[in-house]
Amino acid sequence: MAKILSGRECAATMREEIRVQVEELKNKHNLTPGLAVVLVGDDPASVSYVKGKEKACEKAGIMSREYKFDADYKEDALLKLIDELNHDNKIHGILVQLPLPKHFNEEKVLFAIDPEKDVDGFHPVNLGKMMIGEPRFLPATPHGIQQLLIRNDIEIAGKHVVIVGRSNIVGKPLAMILVQKKPGANATVSMCHTGTKNMPDMTRQADILVVAAGRPHTVKASMVKDGVVVVDVGVNRIEDKTKKKGFRLIGDVEFDEVSAKASAITPVPGGVGPMTITMLLHNTLQAAKNHAGIP
Ligand code: GUN
Repeated sequence: MAKILSGRECAATMREEIRVQVEELKNKHNLTPGLAVVLVGDDPASVSYVKGKEKACEKAGIMSREYKFDADYKEDALLKLIDELNHDNKIHGILVQLPLPKHFNEEKVLFAIDPEKDVDGFHPVNLGKMMIGEPRFLPATPHGIQQLLIRNDIEIAGKHVVIVGRSNIVGKPLAMILVQKKPGANATVSMCHTGTKNMPDMTRQADILVVAAGRPHTVKASMVKDGVVVVDVGVNRIEDKTKKKGFRLIGDVEFDEVSAKASAITPVPGGVGPMTITMLLHNTLQAAKNHAGIP
C-alpha cells in the first residue's frame, strides 16, 4: 500500500514554524504581517478557499483584511482598491482570488499589484524571477507540492516528473520550480495537456506524477507504473446526499486503484490543499520581513 502524503500534517508543522516566526517579528520588530484578501463574486470553491486562508492567517498571528464584492463589481474599482492597498503600510501581501468574473481582464488586475506585495507570485515580474531561478515569491500551490515532497524525504533530483495540466497557477510554475538546478529540484520535467497525443504513454513514464487537470477520473491505475509517487491537485465537488453539505470532494486521480500501485500518494482532501494555504502564510511573512529589511 502506498504511503499517504498528508498535507494536513506537513502543513500543521510548517504553520507552527511560521506562527513562531510571526510572534518573533511582533516581539522584536513590532511588526505584524498583514494580508489583504480580495474576493469578487460567490463561486463556492473560492468562498471556501478564502475562508480557509483567513482562518489560517488568524491562527498564525497574521492580520488579514477581507474585501468581498458582488460579481458585478467593476474592474476600475478593483484597480483603484489595489492601488490603495499597494500604498497601505499595514498590508504586506495582496491576494486577489482567481478566477475573477468574466468581465475582468485578469492579467491587467495581476499586473496592478505591487510585485513586492504579490504573495501569490503571479505578477509577470515575479514569474520571470522564478523562471531565472531568483524567486521573490513562489506561487503557493507548486511551492507547497515541492515542500510536501521534500518533507516526506521524496527525492526529486534526477527523477522524471510528469505534470498533467498547464495552468498558470499550478502546472507551468511547478515545471519552472522543479527544473531549476537547485536542492529539492533538478528534475527532468514533462508536461501533458489537452494537446498531448498519447497521455497514458507519458504518465506511465513518471517517477513522480502531478495531476492538476481539474477533471475527476483523469488518471487511472493503467496509466501509472508501479512505485510511482502521485500528487493529486484536483478538488472536485461531487454530489453525495449522505453528507451534510450534499457533496464530497474527490481529486483528479482514481485514488483506490492508483494507490494500490503507487509508493506514495496525496489524499483529497488533506493533501495539496492545506499546503497551498501554508505557503501563502510563508510568503506573507516573507513580504513583511522584506518590507522591514529583515533577512
Ligand atoms: N485560485 C485557485 N488557486 C489560487 C491561488 O493560489 N491564488 C489565487 N489568488 N487564486 C487561486
